[in-house]
Amino acid sequence: MAIYLDHAATTPVRREVVDAMLPYLLEDWGNPSSGHSFGRAARRGLDEAHERLAAARGAEAREIVLTSGGTEANNLALKGAAWAGKARGHRIVTTSIEHHAVGHTLRHLEKFGFETVELPVDRYGRVDPDELEAALDDRTILVSVMLANNEVGTIQPIQDVAERVRRHRGILFHVDAVQAAPYLPIDMASLDADLLSIAAHKFEGPKGIGALFVRHGTHLLGQQHGGSQERHRRAGTENVASSVGMAVAYELARAEQPGTARRLAEQRERLAAAVLAVPGVELTGHPRDRLPGILSIIARDTDGTSVSQALDLEGIAVATGSACTTGSPEPSHVLAAMGYPDEEARGALRVSLGRTTTNDEVELVAVAIPRTLAMLRIGSAAIAADPLGQAIQPGVPAGA
Ligand SMILES: Cc1ncc(COP(=O)(O)O)c(C=O)c1O
Repeated sequence: MAIYLDHAATTPVRREVVDAMLPYLLEDWGNPSSGHSFGRAARRGLDEAHERLAAARGAEAREIVLTSGGTEANNLALKGAAWAGKARGHRIVTTSIEHHAVGHTLRHLEKFGFETVELPVDRYGRVDPDELEAALDDRTILVSVMLANNEVGTIQPIQDVAERVRRHRGILFHVDAVQAAPYLPIDMASLDADLLSIAAHKFEGPKGIGALFVRHGTHLLGQQHGGSQERHRRAGTENVASSVGMAVAYELARAEQPGTARRLAEQRERLAAAVLAVPGVELTGHPRDRLPGILSIIARDTDGTSVSQALDLEGIAVATGSACTTGSPEPSHVLAAMGYPDEEARGALRVSLGRTTTNDEVELVAVAIPRTLAMLRIGSAAIAADPLGQAIQPGVPAGA
């Protein structure tokens, strides 16, 4: 039986979501911009998706821009706000541990004259609100801070950050809530953000659909040109079925959030107790202010890729701490910013639990990870002692 503990990467789509989507794939598949009955049926689904998503987030339907996921929502927020604010200033303040969908977008904007200020974080991955406020000046047009980090699960002091930004008129505040959205009780009303990104596949919705919440009155320049969809903020025929799926998935996640968060935190603690008892294993990220389902560690004298591959052979899916997207694992920029040298960051592992994770799975993995770490360490110690493998040549009698 395979065990999936990589819910921070993506989650399975839940049955209720598929059921809600199917009518818009099989029956009401019209183009929502068409004026005829086929189009009107699809439009109803799309409008309802906006409304339900908004209601679940304490926002208004017109404040939602549907996108192709978290990456596009972040791109639209940053580029849209930067270009809209260019006449007032060119400075954008962020942190050094944002997802690449923010970090690389800002690198791109630098080529057009924008200046990015990347604030450092502490050993736990938290930004200091005082330092953030000190970085704001009258050329600053935008602040972007993630709500919770996808690699180590640390939750930022986001309310405090929001208050500091609000003291400066005219600075927009963007929050990347992609990883946090299913697990934290946040909404647009209580979280004083102008722009907030989410992605459905992190909360048991389909992949390739997300949303940017744009507070009413926020000036944002659309980054995709063509039709007038999404109130001129995102051209292109809408993905109606996935939008409906995202709204249903989000409602369910919000309704179940307190129970899910409590259960996941208990399971994570059980797993942490077993894994952190292994010598040379250290928790990364904040010990308390962290997402309930993410256990991130560094195991010294190991390589996270080897550990995750060995676990994969046993049918257990976890992630390394590095951005291993192309087969050449690069050191994690998040761990580097938190002060871990590359040599230590190599041993990073991220185990992320989800709503459907069972206690039995947790018990199995609580045994499998310490065993795998021990086996790999014995293996590498043996290789270090006998690099040519002379002591274990098959068929050669001892002493021959
Ligand atoms: C914090 C964060 N932001 C943005 C993204 C990008 O979202 P998507 O995969 O939907 O493009 C991710 C995905 O892992 C994420 O964790």
